[in-house]
Amino acid sequence: MSSNFDKIAPFYGFLEGVLFGSRMQRMRCAHLDHMSGRREILLVGEGTGLFLERLLEVNAQAKVTVVEQSEQMMKRAKRRVAEKDLRRVTFRKLSFEKFDSSKRFDAVCTLFFWDCFTQGQIRSMLPLLERHSKRGALWLDVDFFENPHGSTRTGIWHYLLIRFLYGFFGLATGIEARRIVNIEPLAKENGFSRMATTRSDQFPMSARIFKKENPASMAVVSHRNDSQVRVIRNSRNSISQSEPDVQSKIPYSLKDCLMLLSGLPIGLTCGIV
Ligand SMILES: C[S@@+](CC[C@H](N)C(=O)[O-])C[C@H]1O[C@@H](n2cnc3c(N)ncnc32)[C@H](O)[C@@H]1O
Repeated sequence: MSSNFDKIAPFYGFLEGVLFGSRMQRMRCAHLDHMSGRREILLVGEGTGLFLERLLEVNAQAKVTVVEQSEQMMKRAKRRVAEKDLRRVTFRKLSFEKFDSSKRFDAVCTLFFWDCFTQGQIRSMLPLLERHSKRGALWLDVDFFENPHGSTRTGIWHYLLIRFLYGFFGLATGIEARRIVNIEPLAKENGFSRMATTRSDQFPMSARIFKKENPASMAVVSHRNDSQVRVIRNSRNSISQSEPDVQSKIPYSLKDCLMLLSGLPIGLTCGIV
C-alpha cells in the first residue's frame, strides 16, 4: 500500500484550515474525554500531530505510540511534543501493516486514516488493530463518511466535497481508495462494538468510539451540531444505531462555498507539483 504523504506534509495544515477551518480538529477532539484514563495509547497515521498534542495535554500519564509512515508528517508531529513529554511518546516510522509490538494497548486512535484505504486493505489491517488491543480497549475513529440518505442538496454538497478530496489526495499521495468505506461491519467482525457517534451537521465527518468485545453496558449516540451536542441514552442498555443526519437546509454557508472553491486551485497545484 504505497501512498506517500511526504510531499503534502508542508501544506496539510494549511489546506485543512482553508477547507474546514477548525472543524476537523473539533471532530478529532469530540470524544477526547474517553482517552483521559487510558495508559497505553496507539495512534495510527497521526499526520502532523494536532491530535497528539491535545491528547498529551488531557492525559498526563499515558504512554503514546505513534505509527506513521511519512517521515515529513512524523517530523512535524515530533515538533509539537513538549520536551517534558518526549519520554512518553514512541515514534515508529513505518506503515501500520508492518507494525508489531509486544504491547497491548488500552486505546487506539485512527483519525482521518481509513479514508486512505480500499475495503480490501482495511479488511486486512483491522485484525492487526484487534491484535494490539486489550480486552475492553477503546478505539476512537474520526473520519469522513459518504451519506447515501441525506437530502438531495446535502447529498450533492457532500458528494462534491468527497470527490474533490479523493481527486486531490489520489493525485498528491497516490492513495488507491476512491470512496469511503463504512467500517462499522468490519469493526464488528473484529470484535469492536460502537458505543458513541458524533457527527458534524455541516460536513460529512464523524467521530466514533468503539469498544473491544465487551458489549457496552451503556450505549450513547450523540449528534453534534457544530454549536451543540445532543445525547441520546438507550434505556435498554443496548447499542443504538445512529442514522446519518438528514438535513433539510443547505449545509454550507456562502463562506464555506468560497473556502471550498479557493481550495480547488491549491489542491490541483499541490497534486500536480
Ligand atoms: C489523511 S492523513 C490523516 C492525518 C491525521 N491523522 C489527521 O487527522 O489529519 C493520513 C495519514 O496516515 C498516514 N498513513 C497512510 N498510510 C499509512 C500506513 N499504511 N501506515 C501508517 N500511516 C499511514 C499518512 O502518512 C498520513 O499522515
